[in-house]
Amino acid sequence: MTPPEPEKKTFAFSTMIVLAVVLVVILLTCVPYLATIVSAQTPAESTAAHASPIFGVTIPAGYKQWELIAPAEEAAPLDELRAVVGNQTAIDAYQAGKLPFPDGTVLVKRAWKRKQSPEFASATIPGAATTVQVMVKDSKKYASTGGWGFGRFINGKPVDEAQHRTCWGCHEARAKSHDYVFTRLAP
Ligand code: HEC
Repeated sequence: MTPPEPEKKTFAFSTMIVLAVVLVVILLTCVPYLATIVSAQTPAESTAAHASPIFGVTIPAGYKQWELIAPAEEAAPLDELRAVVGNQTAIDAYQAGKLPFPDGTVLVKRAWKRKQSPEFASATIPGAATTVQVMVKDSKKYASTGGWGFGRFINGKPVDEAQHRTCWGCHEARAKSHDYVFTRLAP
């Protein structure tokens, strides 16, 4: 006689139910996370959120390591220290005195609040970062704005469209003789 047979079956059946429930719980827990990861990694979406209106310009990777073209200072009320840096295409064009700047030129203006050095009263040092401004040369894509695409960013996010409408007007009116770029290579 083999009486424990039905008991075994019940045991196997309940184990399967427990396993199935655990599996469903795991799946339900993971799906939202997976969805978040997948959507965050979609390059088109994340780029669009960080691109400037009108021009679609983004903050270029590695710009903090780029070479200095010139520093600048802005009087009150902005009271800022600035540094204009450029990618290799920009630096090569500056050094060769080449105008207009070739396609692929990228210029970045970094800016900080002016701050008095805590160690030395007459020295001025960078305080909090304020804006990052970018100009990208693409003579076809940006044909209607002198070949330049513009982007202004605060805390990594582009400012609104109204501000981006002002860029071209001022650069066109004041810096036309130098391919709409104000900054000259610092001696
Ligand atoms: C009212 C005038 C004016 C407006 C508007 C303006 N700029 Fe400029 N920009 C300047 C001046 C002047 C400089 C020279 C550096 C400095 O003084 O900070 C400059 C410099 C720059 C530079 C460094 C290259 C260069 O031309 O010297 C970038 C990049 C830049 N601006 C981006 C922008 C962007 C992006 C906008 C719009 C969101 C913008 N600018 C709007 C006046 C202006």
